[in-house]
Amino acid sequence: MDHYSIALIPGDGIGVDVVREGTKVLNTVSELHGGISFDYKEFDWSCEYYAKHGRMMPEDGLEQLKDFDSIFLGAVGYPGVPDHVSLWGLLLPIRRQFEQYINLRPVRLLQGIQSPLAGKTSKDLDFIVIRENNEGEYSNIGGRIYEGTDADMAIQNSVFTRKGVERVLRYAFDLAQKQGKRKHVTAATKSNGINHTMPFWDEYVKKINQEYPDVTSNIVHIDALAAFFVSKPETMDIVVASNLFGDILTDLGAAIVGGLGIAPSANINPEKKYPSMFEPVHGSAPDIAGKGIANPLASIWCTSMMLDHLGHPESAKAIILAMEEVIQEKFVTPDLGGHATTEQVGNRICEKLKTRLK
Ligand code: NAD
Ligand code: IPM
Ligand code: MN
Repeated sequence: MDHYSIALIPGDGIGVDVVREGTKVLNTVSELHGGISFDYKEFDWSCEYYAKHGRMMPEDGLEQLKDFDSIFLGAVGYPGVPDHVSLWGLLLPIRRQFEQYINLRPVRLLQGIQSPLAGKTSKDLDFIVIRENNEGEYSNIGGRIYEGTDADMAIQNSVFTRKGVERVLRYAFDLAQKQGKRKHVTAATKSNGINHTMPFWDEYVKKINQEYPDVTSNIVHIDALAAFFVSKPETMDIVVASNLFGDILTDLGAAIVGGLGIAPSANINPEKKYPSMFEPVHGSAPDIAGKGIANPLASIWCTSMMLDHLGHPESAKAIILAMEEVIQEKFVTPDLGGHATTEQVGNRICEKLKTRLK
């Protein structure tokens, strides 16, 4: 019996609803599989917690999380607490302290979803974005001076280290070699305008590529790459990008396969020294929070990524197939043109899983 302890951080807004559905799916897998079981500990760390305690998590929050097998997170951030305070108080410290330096974000058109890019099928829209998740543009190095005067100014430095760049590139080339359909890496750059860090990045792309002679690569400026996501997504296989570029590219990636309601993400510590964290790409969606209509598919897809990471590829696959079945029946939330609620979609996926895993 494989037993896993999971830290649940539902967080804010629709994070709470979608994590509830994801947890149901995990429980269904464990009921049916027999060989997998989970126990959960839920943490109420959120903007509401901030209102009561003046911080997003307790001082020893990371210490409390560090021995879990995985972390399952909903979303962080809500009007009332400035976003940089909520995110730098909870989500970003977890990603950094636990060296989750890989942010894996599949962009894949599930069976049954009609792509906004008419004519593209599940074969054309199926690639993975690997986003550097610990440094780059999200450096936290900089400051603000002369606030309130005419000389008011702010500086934020980008940080690209050899260690940080090499390890994310190596992960990307490795994944392309092992799993890539075309064994091809597309690296996002902006070395025309950003003349120190980006040429550095490009140099390491070429260097690491030499360790993988059977993998091809190209380096594409981020602006053009954004357009290629729309105009020729079928040329993508493994895309690797710095922290900010990867962030932006994956909301775009989500948009071309049906929207943020579907897009999953995994914050991976490849060495497994710390727990990895699974969370949808989307945020707390204050505009639909409390309405019961958030799409739980992104979060449920995250449970599939979690099971893959924990070493259960068959259960991971069964979840995707159950999702596709429900989508093909058009039993979906309003963002995908349906009338189902968050809870109904979660329940229906569990029912499908039951028939699959029996
Ligand atoms: P968002 O992703 O929350 O919402 C963008 C749009 O997508 C909204 O119209 C929303 O209704 C829609 N949407 C998102 N998820 C959906 C779902 N599951 N089903 C249906 N529709 C969905 O982005 P935002 O509005 O820029 O940010 C809101 C808050 O979330 C901010 O505080 C932001 O900082 C935070 N945020 C957190 C995370 C995270 O914790 N990982 C990620 C992104 C944004
Ligand atoms: C994401 C989010 C976060 C990020 C924010 C909320 C800090 O947009 O996970 O994509 O940019 O990393
Ligand atoms: Mn984002």
